[in-house]
Order: sequence, then C-alpha cells, then structure tokens
Amino acid sequence: MLSRHAPSPKAVSSLSTRVLPCAATSRVSFSPAQQSRGLATVQDPPPPPKRTQFGGLKDQDRIFQNLYGHHGADLKSAKKYGDWHKTKEILLKGHDWIISEIKASGLRGRGGAGFPSGMKWSFMNFKDWDKDTKPRYLVVNADEGEPGTCKDREIMRKDPHKLIEGCLVAGRAMNCTAAYIYIRGEFYHEATVLQRAIQEAYKDGLIGKNACDSGYDFDVYIHRGMGAYVCGEETSLIESLEGKPGKPRLKPPFPAAVGLFGCPSTVANVETIAVAPTICRRGGSWFAGFGRERNAGTKLFCISGHVNNPCTVEEEMSIPLRELIDKHCGGVRGGWDNLKAIIPGGSSTPILPKSVCDEQLMDFDALKDSQSGLGTAAVIVMDKSTDVVRAISRLSHFYRHESCGQCTPCREGSKWTEQIMKRFEKGQGREREIDMLQELTKQVEGHTICALGEAFAWPIQGLIRHFRPELEARMKDFAEKNGGPALAGGWPNDSLSQGKLIAPGQ
Ligand SMILES: Cc1cc2nc3c(=O)[nH]c(=O)nc-3n(C[C@H](O)[C@H](O)[C@H](O)COP(=O)(O)O)c2cc1C
Ligand code: SF4
Repeated sequence: MLSRHAPSPKAVSSLSTRVLPCAATSRVSFSPAQQSRGLATVQDPPPPPKRTQFGGLKDQDRIFQNLYGHHGADLKSAKKYGDWHKTKEILLKGHDWIISEIKASGLRGRGGAGFPSGMKWSFMNFKDWDKDTKPRYLVVNADEGEPGTCKDREIMRKDPHKLIEGCLVAGRAMNCTAAYIYIRGEFYHEATVLQRAIQEAYKDGLIGKNACDSGYDFDVYIHRGMGAYVCGEETSLIESLEGKPGKPRLKPPFPAAVGLFGCPSTVANVETIAVAPTICRRGGSWFAGFGRERNAGTKLFCISGHVNNPCTVEEEMSIPLRELIDKHCGGVRGGWDNLKAIIPGGSSTPILPKSVCDEQLMDFDALKDSQSGLGTAAVIVMDKSTDVVRAISRLSHFYRHESCGQCTPCREGSKWTEQIMKRFEKGQGREREIDMLQELTKQVEGHTICALGEAFAWPIQGLIRHFRPELEARMKDFAEKNGGPALAGGWPNDSLSQGKLIAPGQ
C-alpha cells in the first residue's frame, strides 16, 4: 500500500532540519579541529526516548469533550467547550498551512482504510486547480454502515458543531465550494440535530457567504441516504448523492479528479473531518505526540459484545487492547480468561483469538502485523459462550445481502460463502472443503471493483486461520451423529444409497 512506504511527516521534518545546518557551514569559518570532523561526528541532540506505553488519555487531551452528552449540542454550549475558537485565523492562514498541519499531525483516515489525510487532501490542490472554474466538493461520509461501529453517530448527535467547523476547515484546505454530508437514512435523530446546528452556524455567520468573516464562501448541506451498506464506499456514495443507484465506480479516475457531479471532490469520514479544527488549533505536533510512529493521534473506539459496559470512548492510539477493555468497559464478561476472540475493527476485519489479544496494541500497523486491521476501531468482544462459526456465518449472510452485484467474484462468491458457512455451522461438510473455502476467498481478494470483496473474504480467512480445529471438530461430531460425514455440497451421507444423488455416468 502506498501509505506504508510513504515517509512519515516526522521523518521528513527531521531530514530537513539536518540538511539546513550544512548549508550554513559554507558561510562560516571553522577551526582546523572542527574542519576535520566528519559529518557523522556532528553532535546531534540525543533522540527523545521512544515511548513504549500508550493509553490513559487525559481529559484535557480529549477532542470530543461532549461525547457523553453532558452539555447541549447547541452553538452556545459548543463555543463554551472550545469549538469555533479562532476559526477565522485558521481560515486566513490558507490551504497550504492547514494541509501542512494535518500532514504534521500524522492523521490517517478514520473511515477504515487509514490513508494519510494530509496527503489525500493535497490531491485536490493539483497544478492549476485555481484556473478550473468547476465547483469543488468535500463529501463527508456519515453512512457508518460497518457492523459494530457507532462513533460517527455519537459525534453528530452530541458534538455536531465539531463536524460543521471541520467541514469549513477541511473545505478551506481543499478550496471547496461546499460540503455535502451524506448521512445514513436511519440516523433520523442525528440528521435533525445536525441540521439544527447547521442553521445555527449559518445564522451566526460561521458558514455561508463570507464564512467567519474570512472572505471565504462555504455552504454545508445534508443528504440522507437510503440505507445500503455499499453506499459507504466513496464512489458508490457519490453515485447515490447524484441520485443514481449506489454502485461503486471503477477507479481511476479518482474523486479528486472526477468526483461529485464530475467535479473535483474528496470523500472523508466524519471523525477525520471533526478532528481537523482541534489539530489546527493545538498544532499538528500535539496530535502527533499520541500513539506510535505512523499511528498518531487520539481515536474513538467503539467496544461492543461481551463486556460489562459496552461504550464508545476516545483514547490514545496504540493503547493495549486489554487496557482498553478493562479500563473503559469494566472488563470482559466473566473476566479476561473468559475471552474467546475479538473482531478488532468492525465486522470486515479478521477475528483474533485470545492468545493474540493478550498482547495486542490497537493501531493500524500493530493490527496489520497480526493479520487483521484497525478498520473503524469497532471492537466486537466474544466470550467463551460464543459460537464463532455461527458469528462469522451471520456476517457472511450480511455481506451477501449487501453485495451490489456488479462483480462476479463478489456477487457469486458472497452467495457461495454464505451457503458453505451455513453448512459449516452444523458441521455439514468435509475437511477438504475448508481449504476450498479458503481458496475461494483468496480468488475474490483484489478482483473486485470495491473492497466489499475483501470485506466478506477476510472474516472467513480469519476464522480458518485461528479456529480451524473448531470447524473440524464440528464436522467430526456431525459424522458421528449421522453415520458418516456429509458428502460434498452438504448432502447427507446416505444420499447415494437413497437414490438422491446420481454420480456421473449412472
Ligand atoms: C463497502 C464499503 C463500505 C464503506 N463504508 C464506509 C462508511 O460507512 N463510512 C466511512 O467513513 N467509510 C466507509 N468506507 C470507506 C470509504 O470508501 C472511504 O475510504 C472513507 O470514507 C474515506 O474517508 P477517510 O479518508 O476519512 O478515512 C467504506 C468502504 C467500503 C469498501
Ligand atoms: S465488490 Fe461487490 S459491492 Fe463492490 S462493486 Fe463489486 S459487486 Fe458491488
């Protein structure tokens, strides 16, 4: 992935500070002793000690101060806890400054893919962008369809002004004319709260013509979706916003070149946009100070399932999974030893067994190293009472239902995997079919228009990787109870003798 090889903003800035003193040496004279020193002996200040402990975010470092609705969602309350403070100054600093702060912060998209946001936003300001007379759009992805995820809705219902201010700041960074917030249709309450906040912001002169008295015009609109999971995919979302069926587009062209209504556009997640004003106010380096390198910042985690207190909480990136659950959710139901597995980042990320969870850090790279992903940071906890095969089978049903049907591997593959998983739930299968299922999911990966292909393939791969013995035990049990294993395709063992199956040539 491009982002894995891109140098971190920290690395770039440390490079530039090392080069500058060398340029200065050409103008000043040195003593012979100094001249004989090689570059390698130049005394750099020792690097700051690397942090090895993460978590325990302090209240003053929380961006989402009203996550639990202790204050009102209105403009007056929002201003009290810091929103819309010095927004005019931020806007007047211009697009290059905002983008450089976002780059320095190390912010990676919070919608699932984790692409560096500063770099993504900078694609909008391509060469001669200002000579292009077309409108330019920021599209905010408020579809939040990934099962297990419940963070964007919390922002919209409790902290709507963070999102609106974020639209203005991110919109300024990308020189956009307007923002469209595409909100999931079922979020009726959230859409109402958000609309009220937009009206307040217009009335106060914060958005609209001459937004915040900065000379910049910027509109914000809400568009309510119709409830298809695939409409969360950025190009599908654009199609839906244009009034067409929500089916993903082939890329390229990317939205920054041809997006909404054929105009340059960027689709970004609610959380990504909502943190932008605070990053600009407190500085990119402040945000970059949280989490491990390349995994910077604070993050909303949504923890559900078999914990004592399911919740959405803002924590430092790279917090250990166990600390996240013990500290904020009152622990796993029945204690940590009762844990069977977790899904770490929403239903499309591969499941991890307890042995991996014991030492797991919650960030993009650590979870990738564990062959899973941070995704939307929606942690689904399963204790020992869970039937993991059935749980993954239920997800297969979901993804089959949500496939838009454009690509054969996804349309057919999601149906086959659902059918196979339904059988595996009951142990109706043969061991070699586990390998066939694995192969099937590998054939889908990377061969579809959008990532929904991976979304249904990865949970099954995770199940096979970590819970294969459970699948095999179920098949053995079925065989013992039914006079032999099921035949391929799930037919009962005595189908041939009963004349229900006819072999070729018979
Ligand atoms: C099937 C599918 C569904 C998606 N659903 C969402 C969603 O509900 N919300 C979201 O922000 N991103 C979703 N995404 C990711 C978006 O395509 C896009 O990467 C994201 O909105 C970019 O925002 P970011 O750069 O802020 O992460 C989905 C992707 C796929 C493939
Ligand atoms: S991968 Fe699935 S959901 Fe995505 S475009 Fe293809 S058929 Fe549609």
